[in-house]
Amino acid sequence: MTIHIGANHEDIAETVLMPGDPYRAKWAAETFLQDVKCVNEVRGMLGFTGTWSGHRVTIQGSGMGMPSLSIYANELITSFNAQTLIRIGSCGAMQENINVRDVIIAMTATTLSTPSRGIFKEVNFAPCADYGLLESAVAASRKRDVATHVGGIYSSDVFYDERPDLTEQMTRHGILGVEMEAAELYNLAARHGRRALAVLTVSDHLITHEALPADQREKSFGDMVEIALEAAFA
Ligand code: HPA
Repeated sequence: MTIHIGANHEDIAETVLMPGDPYRAKWAAETFLQDVKCVNEVRGMLGFTGTWSGHRVTIQGSGMGMPSLSIYANELITSFNAQTLIRIGSCGAMQENINVRDVIIAMTATTLSTPSRGIFKEVNFAPCADYGLLESAVAASRKRDVATHVGGIYSSDVFYDERPDLTEQMTRHGILGVEMEAAELYNLAARHGRRALAVLTVSDHLITHEALPADQREKSFGDMVEIALEAAFA
């Protein structure tokens, strides 16, 4: 057990999917895993362990933003020996050719800052995905009927961003979408020699202002979860 994860060591699998929303962790575990057991309820940040195609998987909520994700990812890595950590979550699209419901697989994550800034100091470290996971996720996505984009994303510190010029610069430099967690997951995986990836579903669009209606979320998020699971065990 750790401060924020009330599970026994053996209750957490080596492969962990991390949605921001703890209720999405519950939905994904109940929808895609067998023999599901709730392994964490501390602070309502639900975690579940079960099996997928015979492989043990934990799905643990990370909360919103890099400081929250950093708590859970650190404990999963250093206390529970998690080896493969895949963020599954939503993002806002930043390019015209991307639509809501599309999937984005994040090769890199640009930031203004991360909780690792204190370590890197003057260095602008480039958080990047594990290449093997990335390749497997792209292959898994090609087998599915879902438009998938692969490239750089922006891990922001704010949802209500008062700097439209930053969004403009991200779009101009080809960034596919914005979310708030992936960069620090990539930093932590690099630091501890683990594999990390973020597979995201586009829930809203920063240019067209389109948003995914609530009743269409489930199917779209399902593609993302299945891509993540296939990539983890490819
Ligand atoms: N901004 C930041 N994070 C997000 C967004 C967004 O527009 N959409 C989903 N996660």
